[in-house]
Amino acid sequence: MTHSADNNSAYETDALIAEDIGAYLDQHQNKSLLRFITCGSVDDGKSTLIGRLLYDSKMIFEDQLAALEADSKKVGTQGQEIDFALLVDGLAAEREQGITIDVAYRFFATEKRKFIVADTPGHEQYTRNMVTGASTADLAVILVDARKGVLVQTRRHSYLAHLLGIKHLVLAVNKMDLVGYDQQTFDDIVAEYSAFAEEIGIEAFTAIPISGFKGDNITDAPSPQTEWYDGPALIDHLESVEIANIAAQERAFRMPVQWVNRPNLDFRGFSGLIGSGTVAPGDAVRIVPSGKTSTVKSIVTYDGELKEAVAGQSVTLTLEDEVDCSRGDVISTADNPPEASDQFEATIVWMDEEALKPGRGYWLKLASQMVTATIAEPKYEINVNTMDHLAAKTLQLNSIGVAEVHTERPITFEPYSDSRSLGGFILVDKITNATVGAGMLHFSLRRAQNVHWQATTITRDDHAGMKNQKPRVLWFTGLSGSGKSTIANAVEQRLNLMNRHTFLLDGDNVRHGLNKDLGFTEADRIENIRRVGEVAKLMTDAGLIVLTAFISPFRAERDMVRSMMDECEFIEIFVDTPLEVAEERDVKGLYKKARSGELKNFTGIDSPYEAPAEPEIRVNTVEMTVDEAADHIVSQIMPLK
Ligand code: ADX
Repeated sequence: MTHSADNNSAYETDALIAEDIGAYLDQHQNKSLLRFITCGSVDDGKSTLIGRLLYDSKMIFEDQLAALEADSKKVGTQGQEIDFALLVDGLAAEREQGITIDVAYRFFATEKRKFIVADTPGHEQYTRNMVTGASTADLAVILVDARKGVLVQTRRHSYLAHLLGIKHLVLAVNKMDLVGYDQQTFDDIVAEYSAFAEEIGIEAFTAIPISGFKGDNITDAPSPQTEWYDGPALIDHLESVEIANIAAQERAFRMPVQWVNRPNLDFRGFSGLIGSGTVAPGDAVRIVPSGKTSTVKSIVTYDGELKEAVAGQSVTLTLEDEVDCSRGDVISTADNPPEASDQFEATIVWMDEEALKPGRGYWLKLASQMVTATIAEPKYEINVNTMDHLAAKTLQLNSIGVAEVHTERPITFEPYSDSRSLGGFILVDKITNATVGAGMLHFSLRRAQNVHWQATTITRDDHAGMKNQKPRVLWFTGLSGSGKSTIANAVEQRLNLMNRHTFLLDGDNVRHGLNKDLGFTEADRIENIRRVGEVAKLMTDAGLIVLTAFISPFRAERDMVRSMMDECEFIEIFVDTPLEVAEERDVKGLYKKARSGELKNFTGIDSPYEAPAEPEIRVNTVEMTVDEAADHIVSQIMPLK
């Protein structure tokens, strides 16, 4: 199943939910809402339990119920009883036809409360699905099969739920009917789980012996079969636990601005989901990061104006003053605004088949902010089963680690432990647009606060002006032996004759000095190009025309360097020599070594090369001589003033 980046943010999930069930939930408008997640595999009876909850709360629509009864008879499972798993699996199939989302949200309500349960199907990609479902949940039901007890996956789910900040955990010991409702079995499982929970810092959990299939301790407790149990029924517990929004309401007001609502010249409102606190007309607010202050004039919703709005509500605020405020800004209380920073420590959950590439630029989406971010090599990876810290150079699918995160510009944030909305983020691949990771910010690194930009009097324009030229980066990319260095050298000679001030940065040369600590792994190549990009940037600031000759095999890093330069300053030159031709020439004898296995990670052989899709200039070295290629390039980049 594909996984669209946008489906992931709490905000957009909310929109999806609202669309699906808006009308239905309206009937239950005044009830509080509990979001929870069920963790466990199909074998643990997850579908049956959810089906049971929907059925017992009478929230199955009549036509579905009739179909369900018919289906159960057809399948002939378990006599005349209804197979609740069929209901849930049926709904899932329905959903999957139209919507590419791997978390299904189901809704039900009781007398006291309404509920949204995130059902995360599948064993594969479990971590990813669970992170998506859990990011807005108040409670997690960890299902255990009474016959099997606490398994590795039970630990894994519990750890993730805890990591994601879910405050309430329910250990639902299911299939009690299959162990004869034996108290000792239940007590043993609870004891084992307690020991583990304590180890990972889970302070409290509620253990309930249930049978999703027979209905024991779901709506009424104790069931006649478990007279020995003196705790609440599952529904009672779900109806009475504290909801995170209540706690969030007690914190300072923050609302990330999702969009500026400007239907006409007379109205300008700022729309978003309130992440924490409460807001009322007359409140003094501050726009972060600009720091501008104003006063709330009104709170607008579809149902009219409100006297007050609280965490968890989506609203539009109008302000007394004409202050600048756009998507990505955060409106906060005036006297206690959140911080901004560009360097953090964070826990990262990796969710893509392709491992994390330290140093690569990913989109980081946090609340309504979106910036380019790079992740450093992890400090460690966490073994979710033993909680050990392991050394790691990267993070593979479903692994969790702690690493430094650097953003291209400061973002407004709070630690995840204080605020999920301003502390939780997702990472999106810039080329495929897939969600590749999720993270939780711990804190900002102190060095971020202590390093400032120093303004200089002589500007880059002054430097370039004295040289009577416009700075440029001529970025040559291509396979090893494609002719990059030779052609770049010929271009530099021509520019030199034209009295241009140039500098040629060459892969083999730079790797003898500045980058002598780097090899040819993907991570090292990314770092190689990052450093060369920074050096080229400094040289353009000094007014130079910079020529670079590096394989630079990855599109993402070439694009990153491009984004560091002023518009039109970066000229990508693809030295387009087919692999067979480069290998045939084999100027340095390296292809031969690579083919014989003597040299590993060789570009084009056992390490990838991503050709530019739209280079500014392409030279074909089969059809052109070096001089022709150089002349062509020079003609394309003129004038240089
Ligand atoms: S890049 O991939 O990080 O951009 P760079 O251009 O700096 O590579 O260095 C490439 C040069 O290093 C090649 O021209 C070749 O001479 C040498 N080299 C040594 N090992 C390798 C390898 N495994 N893959 C590619 N080039 C290698």
